[in-house]
Amino acid sequence: MDKLRIIGGQRLQGAVTISGAKNAALPQIAASLLSDQPLELTNLPAVTDVENMLGVVTRHGAQIKRSAHGAVIDTSTAVSRETSYDTVRRMRATVLVLAPLLARFGEARVSLPGGCAIGARPVDMHVRALSTLGADIDIENGLIVASAPTGLTGARIVLSSPSVGATETAIMAATAARGETEILNAAREPEVADLADCLNAMGAHIEGAGTHRILIQGARAWRPAVHDIIPDRIEVGTYAVAAGITGGQLELTHARLEHLASVVQLLEAAGVSVWPGDRGLVVAREGPLHPVDLTTEPYPGFPTDLQAQFMALMCCADGASLLRETVFENRFMHVPELMRLGANITLQGTTALVRGGEPLKGAQVMATDLRASVCLVLAALVSEGETTINRIYHLDRGYEQLDRKLRLCGARIERVSA
Ligand code: EPZ
Repeated sequence: MDKLRIIGGQRLQGAVTISGAKNAALPQIAASLLSDQPLELTNLPAVTDVENMLGVVTRHGAQIKRSAHGAVIDTSTAVSRETSYDTVRRMRATVLVLAPLLARFGEARVSLPGGCAIGARPVDMHVRALSTLGADIDIENGLIVASAPTGLTGARIVLSSPSVGATETAIMAATAARGETEILNAAREPEVADLADCLNAMGAHIEGAGTHRILIQGARAWRPAVHDIIPDRIEVGTYAVAAGITGGQLELTHARLEHLASVVQLLEAAGVSVWPGDRGLVVAREGPLHPVDLTTEPYPGFPTDLQAQFMALMCCADGASLLRETVFENRFMHVPELMRLGANITLQGTTALVRGGEPLKGAQVMATDLRASVCLVLAALVSEGETTINRIYHLDRGYEQLDRKLRLCGARIERVSA
């Protein structure tokens, strides 16, 4: 397994090309199964989760023409067959094919995802949304067995919490349901809005995506479509922390300020400046880092996917910060590894108290999940001496060429094949 070797101490300077959003690409690849017309996606990030999802739709009979950052997905020959536990176990987002398969073929058999490193992550809200639209759903031997022999019927779906995946499942199923569907307490993430934009390009009629109330007029004719995926706001936030933690200056091309309001507010409070540049956002820090408290929340609150990265930043602040994780029940796997670098962190339930200011020292550390891995990279950039990060396949799931992008900005980082 590959590892990363990093020598800390470099201030990062330069420009970073931000890739397409992984969490926008995954539901849109799944959504291609809804239609028998070709869907071309551009600005696809070259990350393993996207490769895996393209593999899933291929196993369902889709033909795919690939380019470096694009895919033309032709699902005219798609079929509904079981999506195995092994596939879903490796990537929870595979559960997003449930709604398109059910909507298109009247049946779907998808394995329950099971838990993952950051929590149990059930799919009860996905299942309830499909039942509300008239599907019969059973759980048999770890499989979600869904059927709608006479099709789906539009209804009012009220989500018990603004789940991103459940909102996406509900939207995709509703595009094929007879009549109108109203989704209340919908997730407002930009990736949900981008899925709706993609589906509307394909012929759907969706209004209100990006707000808590979404209206879908179902059962419309599909047409060939091309859709350009939005930039990855979590990648932007990650490199913004890289500029802040090293005291450098980075221009993050294609970054959209409107996707990061809560993040920019906290960065500014911590002493990191953010302003619009010619090609995207410029992020820099000159003075000291100040401690700030944060609570993760559904969008537009502070994103849980940036909690670990911000914790690395707070390890370098001149004081104590409280970080509260409200979205997932076990998203502090990075804490013991940060402590191996000398960080002073106390965990109490869903809250971490970070006492910053002590210099970090390089060590051997272990990546455990996607965002915990990149948190360790950020901390290693400012740790004295050498840090080795093991199991970096987690990183490759969601960051395109992270080591190369950082090296181009002056980081002393190399990928070592074990
Ligand atoms: C999406 O996951 C993202 N993944 C996650 O990014 C992100 O952290 C999360 O949204 C929150 O923003 C993709 O988009 C592929 P949720 P998702 O449904 O849809 C509970 C990354 O690092 N829940 O909003 O799975 C769930 O357990 C990944 O890129 C239920 O209880 O997140 C969690 O506690 C990690 N029942 C909370 O809701 C359900 O049916 C939020 O989950 C569904 C979810």
